[in-house]
Amino acid sequence: MIKNLIKNSLGMGNVLKIKNIIKPFKIEEITIDISASCNAQCPFCPRIFMPKDRSKGFMSLDLYEKILNDAKENNIKILRLYSTAEPTMHPKFDKIIDIAKDKGFEISLSTNGSLIHKYMESIAKVDFLQYSIEGWDKESYEKYRFPLKFDKTFENIKTFYEFSKNLNQKPKISTNLLITKDTDIKKYIELWGEYIGDINIHFMYEPVKYENGKFVAKTLDTQNEYFELDKQIKDFYCSYPFEIFMVSYDGKVALCCDDFAAELELGDLTTMTIKEVFNSKKIEEIRKQFYTQKLDLCKDCSRFTKPKENDVKHINEQLKDIKNISKNKIIFMGDFY
Ligand SMILES: C[S@@+](CC[C@H](N)C(=O)[O-])C[C@H]1O[C@@H](n2cnc3c(N)ncnc32)[C@H](O)[C@@H]1O
Ligand code: SF4
Repeated sequence: MIKNLIKNSLGMGNVLKIKNIIKPFKIEEITIDISASCNAQCPFCPRIFMPKDRSKGFMSLDLYEKILNDAKENNIKILRLYSTAEPTMHPKFDKIIDIAKDKGFEISLSTNGSLIHKYMESIAKVDFLQYSIEGWDKESYEKYRFPLKFDKTFENIKTFYEFSKNLNQKPKISTNLLITKDTDIKKYIELWGEYIGDINIHFMYEPVKYENGKFVAKTLDTQNEYFELDKQIKDFYCSYPFEIFMVSYDGKVALCCDDFAAELELGDLTTMTIKEVFNSKKIEEIRKQFYTQKLDLCKDCSRFTKPKENDVKHINEQLKDIKNISKNKIIFMGDFY
């Protein structure tokens, strides 16, 4: 409430400037895309625009250790092990987790759940585990998480729940559910609810492509089942340029998960340090666009969209009854716009 009042009277750009003077922005979290490969082709995922030559590959353990040491020197404590691909495809996933734990990072992992059976013990060591699951039955699951198999993922999620439930140290589990107009949220919770922790319900964003020097949201062919989102016209802020440092599998620094080909050429951690890149003129120029609220590079990113009021209302009506009976904590992102 007070935050909104300040933002409305000063304007977002000034709020950011003042914030930076009082307590300069620093990296709060490092995201390392340990894998560029994914075993799924979810129809809504921005990977559909990923150039072939960057859609496969894994970070070497040497580079991974080098980056983690650098992150420690910069006092970064949170490590997110995913961005544009499936992290559990990394052939040395067990080692990846052990190295980060030995160095004391708080690990956050997001997975489509298809490979959990290979890494039960390692996955139990992460701090925050996010499942990404759409589908309220076999048919809808296999449509949204093509070509993964419902039976395998369902068995994995159930088995991990059983495996981890009595462990002293286990991840806090939550699930990301992207909804379309077709999603049957009630059936979804009846099917998965027992095993998947808190449920964060999001509207699906249009996938973003880097094109002619800008990030541009692209309307999908299957548009009729996706909710239409309105463009945000003011108060632009994105934590990526300010607080999140993202590294691709080969050490190239990316601005965010939509810069999946690291095309902005912000820097390369095989030869540079995190500090050199974070303080570079290139990133400062991008931040300036937010301080002045004159966006160019990110103006058409789908992050700057919001759901229509009627759609939010409609989902909240569905959720009213569900929230009364569900044991899961349900957080509907539509309520935060
Ligand atoms: C790109 S995935 C990478 C990690 C892993 N493969 C997974 O599916 O969790 C990271 C998250 O982005 C979400 N995501 C993918 N496409 C999206 C879209 N168009 N709108 C909103 N979220 C999306 C996924 O559901 C997932 O939770
Ligand atoms: S959402 Fe995750 S599992 Fe699906 S294609 Fe994208 S990276 Fe792969």
